[in-house]
Amino acid sequence: MRKVDFLVIGSGIAGLSFALKASRKGKVLILTKVNADETNTKYAQGGIATVFDPNTDSFEKHISDTLIAGDGLCDKKIVEIVVTEGPDRINELIEYGANFDKEDSGEYNLTREGGHSEKRILHYKDITGWEIERALLEQAKANPNIEILTHYFAVEIITQHHLGESTGDHIECYGVYALNVNSGNVETILAKNTLMATGGAGHIYAATTNPVIATGDGIAMVYRAGGKVRDMEMMQFHPTSLHNPGSFPSFLITEAVRGEGGVLRNKSGKEFMYEYDERGSLAPRDIVARSIDAEMKKTGEEFVYLDITHKPKELILEHFPNIYEKCLSLGIDISKNMIPVTPAAHYLCGGILVDENGRTNISNLFACGECSSTGLHGANRLASNSLLEAAVFGHRISQVAVNELDGVEYNEKVPDWNEFGTVQSNEEILVTHNTRELQRMMSDYVGIVRTDFRLERALTRLNMLKEETEEFYRKTKLSVKLCELRNLILCAQMVIHSAQKRKESRGLHYNTDYPYHLGGEPQNTVISRG
Ligand code: FAD
Ligand code: SIN
Repeated sequence: MRKVDFLVIGSGIAGLSFALKASRKGKVLILTKVNADETNTKYAQGGIATVFDPNTDSFEKHISDTLIAGDGLCDKKIVEIVVTEGPDRINELIEYGANFDKEDSGEYNLTREGGHSEKRILHYKDITGWEIERALLEQAKANPNIEILTHYFAVEIITQHHLGESTGDHIECYGVYALNVNSGNVETILAKNTLMATGGAGHIYAATTNPVIATGDGIAMVYRAGGKVRDMEMMQFHPTSLHNPGSFPSFLITEAVRGEGGVLRNKSGKEFMYEYDERGSLAPRDIVARSIDAEMKKTGEEFVYLDITHKPKELILEHFPNIYEKCLSLGIDISKNMIPVTPAAHYLCGGILVDENGRTNISNLFACGECSSTGLHGANRLASNSLLEAAVFGHRISQVAVNELDGVEYNEKVPDWNEFGTVQSNEEILVTHNTRELQRMMSDYVGIVRTDFRLERALTRLNMLKEETEEFYRKTKLSVKLCELRNLILCAQMVIHSAQKRKESRGLHYNTDYPYHLGGEPQNTVISRG
């Protein structure tokens, strides 16, 4: 049994931002299920949004853009907090050693993305996330108060339930059970404070920009323990992932390509976005993804084109070297050829419900980053606001957790993980098949455009998959793939339930049976077990 002051599940921007600050007060243990840098953070392309140039931009404009994109469902107070605290947090990232591109004048080169009224995105070429992850990990690895255990898979958070006690209204978190992937043993890790920073759940869909780690583990664990989860129907589809059949996950073509003048065209070469929205190719993401979906249905094509060929090759090479190389490797020279693109699941706007200091409704358990729902994104996240949110909340949570540390005790009565009666599986292939079936079913029935009939059909199929998987889970020794499937199924179920609860279309959730906003104050969808 290990004991630690601060336990962090996840080594992306959320987990690392918190860990670096909490380490000033106590020992931090970070668990991560594969290599430490394999995170959504590492794949972020476009950049991180903040008000860095007061001559052209203002907090008011960034707040207003975020609220407009969020389509009535943002928490205005949280939007104000994140926007106004953003510049300090980004300056810290720079102090940690993260580089962002500069002009010859020495000023930061700010770019633009959909829904932003000003250029306010700091970036490092088209691999901003790689650079941020590199800088944060270097700091964490050099910090004597931080230990990182890779290939440790958090299975469940430990609560009174594991002591055979009833939780009543007050659930407490004592740490986690984690599968040591190399030994195959489930270890008990006790913590005074636990931070869930497990990222998103893009892999509930058959087409996603997310790396394989994004299986909604943290959200599923917290839900099973009785935590509250909000707005799960708000899955953001990125409008422009590279159309490259057979490659999974999908390669992203950053929105910054449109920010630098790229336009969307249909097969006939027509710039179609103005038929759908006066902001054209730079309208907010929900609108662009839905418009592309409609255009593909109209033309019967599996993709549309993103065209940046009218821009100088030097600009393309300077801003988008990674995309240029990737496309070239597939025979597409983006300075001469249009890029075939299609929408793909990208970012989960909903997640574990937290307050303004990242607290969940479970004592001593915080959540940060993409697995959390702070209220910033509402019904549709504004591009490049998520890295910012993780940095701001990582800081806020560290302040509270550090202050409260001395008042928290370990719970020494926690029993070891019980695997009595389970056997080694020789049917792991069933897990692979069920995962594929789930992803296909979610893409077919719970995608960009939904109907009541399709949601019901999805739920019926999902219930069968769930029953089968739970039985398998009860009987066999744990494997990462099996645990992930279980978590994916639970997250998919939350998406469908939340979608069924929303009897309107808002932001990312579009149901043709209710193609309008409901009147009155917009409502969040909050669910919890039972
Ligand atoms: P992640 O960075 O995903 O980290 C999650 C961590 O949790 C990983 O270390 C993982 O191994 C670990 N983990 C998960 N489950 C378990 C478990 N059971 N046990 C142990 N460890 C576990 N946002 C922007 O603001 N700007 C952008 O330009 C941008 N571009 C993007 C491009 C792409 C291709 C993608 C996929 C996303 C992009 N986003 C962007 C979104 C942004 O990258 C993510 O929302 C953000 O990085 C999430 O950070 P995080 O720390 O919450 O999670
Ligand atoms: C992108 O670069 O288009 C992704 C930005 C984001 O998801 O915020």
